[in-house]
Amino acid sequence: MYILGINAAFHDSAACILKDGDLLAAAEEERFTHIKHGKRPIPFSAYELPFHAVNYCLEVAGIHLNEVDKIAYSFNPALFMDTTNDEQISLPLQPSASKKPLAEGTSVWDPLFLSYIVNAPRQLADGYPHHLQKNFIDSNVPANKWIYVDHHIAHAASAFYPSPYDKAAVWVIDGRGEKATTSCYAAENNQLKLLNQVNMPHSLGMLYEQVTTHLGFLHSSDEYKVMALASYGKPVYADFFRSKIHVSDCGNYTIDKLYLEKNLGPKRKRHEPFTEKQFDIAHSLQLVLQETVLQLSQWLYKATGYKNLAMAGGVALNCVMNAALRDNGPFENIWVQPASGDAGTALGAALQVYFDYEKNATRHFRMDHVYWGPGFSDNQIEAFLKWTKVPYRKMENVAAETARILAENKIIGWYQGKMEFGPRALGSRSIIASPLHADMQQKLNEIKDREDFRPVAPVVLEEDAGDWFENASVSPFMLFVYRIKDGKGDQIPAVRHTDNTARIQTINEKQNKIYYDLIKEFKKITGVPVLINTSFNTRGEPIVCTPRDAIECFWTSPFDALVINSFLLTKS
Ligand SMILES: [Fe+2]
Repeated sequence: MYILGINAAFHDSAACILKDGDLLAAAEEERFTHIKHGKRPIPFSAYELPFHAVNYCLEVAGIHLNEVDKIAYSFNPALFMDTTNDEQISLPLQPSASKKPLAEGTSVWDPLFLSYIVNAPRQLADGYPHHLQKNFIDSNVPANKWIYVDHHIAHAASAFYPSPYDKAAVWVIDGRGEKATTSCYAAENNQLKLLNQVNMPHSLGMLYEQVTTHLGFLHSSDEYKVMALASYGKPVYADFFRSKIHVSDCGNYTIDKLYLEKNLGPKRKRHEPFTEKQFDIAHSLQLVLQETVLQLSQWLYKATGYKNLAMAGGVALNCVMNAALRDNGPFENIWVQPASGDAGTALGAALQVYFDYEKNATRHFRMDHVYWGPGFSDNQIEAFLKWTKVPYRKMENVAAETARILAENKIIGWYQGKMEFGPRALGSRSIIASPLHADMQQKLNEIKDREDFRPVAPVVLEEDAGDWFENASVSPFMLFVYRIKDGKGDQIPAVRHTDNTARIQTINEKQNKIYYDLIKEFKKITGVPVLINTSFNTRGEPIVCTPRDAIECFWTSPFDALVINSFLLTKS
């Protein structure tokens, strides 16, 4: 049974394909189209489907769209319907001018958005780009093949089914789904039982988005920059945020209107320099988010009685919040879906449909790595290198030779195997460098044209993580920060954040052997089992996907070398 999962309603458009409950492939549309997040989350873009990602999934499965058994779409228009008063979708010619939203948390453009969602099956069958016609031509997507999955169930399924737990509390915290913004489930035996839900307009995710906008960043995209900014500030405005959020005894919350400009002063313009005040706003927001989530987690723990927590939703990408929950929350174990943003709902929707149809199926898929995207063989890459006439040489021992170059403090584009699914580069499409000198952070921020305050993150051998980071546990997806151990920070100054923490990735041999071997070789030379790992892209561009993307990025950026599978490209 082939199930195609699609996320497309908002942003982070993505697709995946399951065969009998096993994941074959998953990828985000942005990597193929070079448009970050695939599209902006606005009503006018809801018709856009991730055709390239779908095509990639069909290629891996070796099937045409008509051979897919079920298509799971991670947004349910039935939950959205009552924004219209009848079964017709009526849209005035000038909605903005002639109509007010029916209720708080709705938009005059909801009917347009809805019409795109309900017509997505037709768009998939007929709207494919010409160059992808092989796997789409003459396709038919009948109603019984297409299944709309509740957005938060899709998030929750992406958190629970691939997790290592048989039973778990499941927590979805994001901007918004159809209406839900925060949802709690008890999960056991392939079933998710809804315990509690917070609906629009109350949303911790949208609160963070509003402050992101206020600080001059792009909302639904740059929230991680606010998190990074937070560590430079003080809790000056914490009481302001506390006064706006009201947590109830039954695990719910409400958020009052913020009126940020009135209460916190004018919004920062995008290219204005940062002031102390903006650091303090970011810090206060982050602190109060953590306090709120910790308070809510106590309810969830008591309501489920489970020691394990599985999380998804855009807010679950906040690795400082996740660490607060790990250190001060009630749960013994936490697993966060690595594609916690909306991309992961493609996977969750597909898994939910699988378990809805195969009620007695056992859960055999566990997501212990993220390498589900396109990959290229040495033969394919060498043919491409020859064709482009770029100089290269084949390496005898990729890990050892690359480690030597890194030990010379060079910056390397590292392109190996299959591309990551989810927002983080985790050793397949990464820029890597030595963490031994403090100025490497600055150099990398310059190369990638990133803001100065942005930290770079370390990857560490799993078996050595405990020697370098306090209470380090297995953390393969860079979703938790850890404190650097006393006496170790000076050895890896480039990855030490201002608060002496680092967002680590642990790696073992099974997850990604060549990457693991590389760090092992670097340790042999320097005594340090840590490298800097940042995403292989430059500002405004998504992470590279194909060998062509990697070579173009390499030759148009000041990296010193590109290691692409077994081949080395250098600049004289
Ligand atoms: Fe979402």
